[in-house]
Amino acid sequence: PQVRSLTPLLVVLGTVAVAQDSLLNVCMDAKHHKTEPGPEGQLYGQCVLWKDNACCTANTSVEAHQDQSYLYNFNWDHCGAMPEKCKRHFIQDTCLYECSPNLGPWIDQVDNSWRKERIRDVPLCQEDCEQWWEDCQDAVTCKVNWHKGWNWTTGTNQCPKGAMCQKFKFVFPTAAALCEQIWSGSYRYTSHHRGSGRCIQMWFDPAQGNPNVAVAQYYARGNAPPNSPLSILLALLPLTLLAPL
Ligand SMILES: *[C@@H]1O[C@H](CO)[C@@H](O)[C@H](O)[C@H]1NC(C)=O
Ligand SMILES: *[C@@H]1O[C@H](CO)[C@@H](O)[C@H](O)[C@H]1NC(C)=O
Repeated sequence: PQVRSLTPLLVVLGTVAVAQDSLLNVCMDAKHHKTEPGPEGQLYGQCVLWKDNACCTANTSVEAHQDQSYLYNFNWDHCGAMPEKCKRHFIQDTCLYECSPNLGPWIDQVDNSWRKERIRDVPLCQEDCEQWWEDCQDAVTCKVNWHKGWNWTTGTNQCPKGAMCQKFKFVFPTAAALCEQIWSGSYRYTSHHRGSGRCIQMWFDPAQGNPNVAVAQYYARGNAPPNSPLSILLALLPLTLLAPL
């Protein structure tokens, strides 16, 4: 009787664990992502942080550093040359998006012609967002949402008629506005700090390992430790075992 009463519980716990594991160490189903993450010894430049386990190929990592690369034909310089200190953040943002296997908890289905999945509300560490905004104060753009509304008739994005080129600080009055609005909600601004285990780092020191592995684990279990499978098991086990006696 003890074995029988435990079986449904273990099946439930197993299902929960599997559902959560499916959010970990995964690649989204998008334009250039590999189907599964794995080592990529030849990752280039700023994407090299992910070489031990990546969703991007070496080719994608090189292209992430190029203006109007074949990845998306996207022109960072649509209102004049983007300063290098700003552009490095967009390169890092591209590396994170293409290479990270730790964005599973924020993958969402979409009905785009060019991808089936996207990310939404990835909690970015405060410092990474603030630095991005600081370093882009001298950059110029004509749009808040860079996902939509461009004129693509020439094959690359141009400002639509009537959209004025302005400094970032007028287009994005705060760091939160930049991080949250530029890719239509892909990122969420947080007050969590780098190293807290509660936010995704766009930048990290690979010698210390990838800090985003633990962050994805934290959010995959619904960030509610009292309801984790282990706690439920520990709470119910005595009852289950005692019941038949
Ligand atoms: C990456 O692959 C694409 C498509 O095959 C190709 O057009 C491009 O030249 C490659 N880029 C590099 C840097 O090898
Ligand atoms: C789009 O760009 C083309 C080429 O520069 C231009 O001729 C056209 O008027 C633009 N259309 C809109 C709606 O901005």
